[in-house]
Amino acid sequence: MYKRFSFRLMEEKDIDQILRIEQECFAAPWSRESFENELRKNKFALYLVLEEEDKVIGYCGSWLIIDEIHITNIAILPEYRGRKLGEALLRKMMEIAKLEGANTMTLEVRVSNHVAISLYRKLGFQEGGIRKNYYTYN
Ligand SMILES: CC(C)(COP(=O)(O)OP(=O)(O)OC[C@H]1O[C@@H](n2cnc3c(N)ncnc32)[C@H](O)[C@@H]1OP(=O)(O)O)[C@@H](O)C(=O)NCCC(=O)NCCS
Repeated sequence: MYKRFSFRLMEEKDIDQILRIEQECFAAPWSRESFENELRKNKFALYLVLEEEDKVIGYCGSWLIIDEIHITNIAILPEYRGRKLGEALLRKMMEIAKLEGANTMTLEVRVSNHVAISLYRKLGFQEGGIRKNYYTYN
């Protein structure tokens, strides 16, 4: 069967592509070392990639700690946005977290990031508190 988009767990071989996504999506991209540490050492880390055939076009990271999942980041390459792929990726993460026993999900988002806030609201997230100076910029 021909299958264009697919999800799977992130592996170390993906890091080059992930770093390119970071550069395109974030003003303060994570380093190679951060991803290596997450994949090698953090037993709570759960990272998914979204592929179009062999090209990684987005990813979502989380920490799954007992019954709580915290989303660390989600990104879709700019040219693939607006096609419900970010939504599909976050839904996939939520589905897996639920199977793993999570019953609470949290995340942090910059108050100026209206696109992400709209996505999170759509998927049922509610605003908690505003954490001052959480981000190093903006
Ligand atoms: C946030 C992000 C992952 C969304 O991915 P996407 O694939 O473009 O989003 P989708 O097409 O799946 O859209 C899902 C929902 O997001 C919101 N959304 C997406 N694009 C939007 C836009 N241009 N304006 C407002 N809301 C938007 C809407 O709620 C949308 O649902 P709807 O289409 O029913 O209105 C993507 O914009 C991105 O990578 N941004 C840069 C990185 C980032 O800021 N990540 C979040 C912080 S960690």
